[in-house]
Formats: sequence, C-alpha cells, structure tokens
Amino acid sequence: MEVIIRDSAEAGCVLGAKILASVIREKPAAVIGLATGRTPLRLYQELIRLHREDGLDFSQVTTFNLDEYVGLAGTHVQSYRYFMQENLFRHINIDLTRTHVPNGIAIDLHVECRAYEEKIIAAGGIDLQLLGLGRNGHIGFNEPTGSLRSRTWIKILSEQTLRDNSDVFGSMDLMPKHALTMGVGTILDARRCLLLAFGPAKVRAVEHMVEGPLAAICPGSALQLHPRATVILDENSAAGLRYADHYRWVDRNKFAWQRHG
Ligand code: GLP
Repeated sequence: MEVIIRDSAEAGCVLGAKILASVIREKPAAVIGLATGRTPLRLYQELIRLHREDGLDFSQVTTFNLDEYVGLAGTHVQSYRYFMQENLFRHINIDLTRTHVPNGIAIDLHVECRAYEEKIIAAGGIDLQLLGLGRNGHIGFNEPTGSLRSRTWIKILSEQTLRDNSDVFGSMDLMPKHALTMGVGTILDARRCLLLAFGPAKVRAVEHMVEGPLAAICPGSALQLHPRATVILDENSAAGLRYADHYRWVDRNKFAWQRHG
C-alpha cells in the first residue's frame, strides 16, 4: 500500500485529482469507479477545474459509483446519483449513458446487483476506483464484519454510519437503512485503488486500515491485499500511524517516475 501524507485535505484532494486525471489522459476511455461523501467533494471540484482550464476530456470515460441508498430514486436530492450529477457530471463533458450508479429503486434488487457486476465486467473492469473511508472502517457501504470477498449486494447500514450520514437527511429516522454497494471483492478487482481519508475522525479507521491486521472488522484493511492501492491522508488522519515517518521517507525517496506530483 502506498501511503501519502499531505499537510491538508486540500493538498490531498488536489493530488488525488491529479492521479485520476493522469489515468484519463493515459487512457481516454478509462473506466473509473467513483465515491460519494464529503471527502471527494474537493477532488471533484479540482477535476472540474482541470476540465475547464486544462481540457481534461471525459467524453469517452465510463464511471461506476460504489453505492446507492435503497428506496431513493436518482432524482431524490439525497440519492448518490443526484450527488454525482450535482457535484461532477453536470460540470464536465461526460456522456451520462456511460455513468452508472446502482438503481436503489429497482423492482428486483438482487437482479440489479448481479447486473451491476456484469456491467463492470462488460466495460472491461475498473481502471481506478476512488474510495473514501467510513469512521468505522467501511468502504463503499461494506460495514464491519461483512465478507472481504463480497460482490455487489444489499447491505444493512450500521447505526454508526446512519449517525454519521444523517445530517444531510435531517434525522436518522428519515434515512434509508439499506444500500446497494459494490462488495469488497468487487473493489479489490479494480486495477488501482485510490482512497482518501482526512480529519481527526478517521484516525482509528486509518490506523487499522494501513497498519492493523487484515480483518473484516475493518473492511478498508482489505486494501492491504491490493497490488496497487494508494492512500492519501492529511496530518490529522495520519496522526495514529506508527510508521508515519517511514511513509514520509518513502515519499521523499521515490524515483521521478514514481511520483504523482
Ligand atoms: C459513506 C459512503 C462511503 C464514504 C464514507 C465516508 O457512507 N458510502 O463511500 O466513503 O461514508 O464519508 P465521508 O467522506 O463523508 O466521511
């Protein structure tokens, strides 16, 4: 796992956008896995800037979002489809027919999950999967103790996750308690993973994900198995890492071709 510590979330997001943009420049028809939540918002703003000012072209890009709430239509303001539309898609030249978010109101959710997996395969697999990290170590909506080999499926959200995400819904009672999410196995199949985690609330989850045992109690720790996972942190989220100095040392001693910027 490549661990990069930046001074601020701002610097981390700019770097994350740079990595994502380089994948698209190298392969204009790249398949990108996208995430929602507060963490990638600044990264999306930077991608929009790169599109407007540097001509970053999304016209051939295909995207697959990690997850969606069960019961929310894409037009619902709290749905992840709406989030993507508002925070990224409508600001760039992406072909919306190439953007995929699980359908939380599908008549048969099991069929929807299987179809989502099949669509990822048909698109040639995910080149780079962007990820955030839940305070309890979840990735996508894969909550602690779920299978580390899971595929896209229906998951019940933990009380902690409901509490963490309830502010945008006004109250926990108004929140869907279920979500469709790519499984941990689906995420690990991406050719590259790029996880961002910032702020003091993520310290414990980051510590376990990077240096703790590989364990289902922290689904993010499954990235320890991934051959090409990059984790971008800020000083706050990295505060609990025993080997922080080692990661900084590695960062300073990279060959030019190993640097992201
Ligand atoms: C949400 C999403 C995750 C996200 C995580 C962290 O529940 N399903 O994909 O990474 O929680 O959210 P935030 O970035 O707002 O801290």
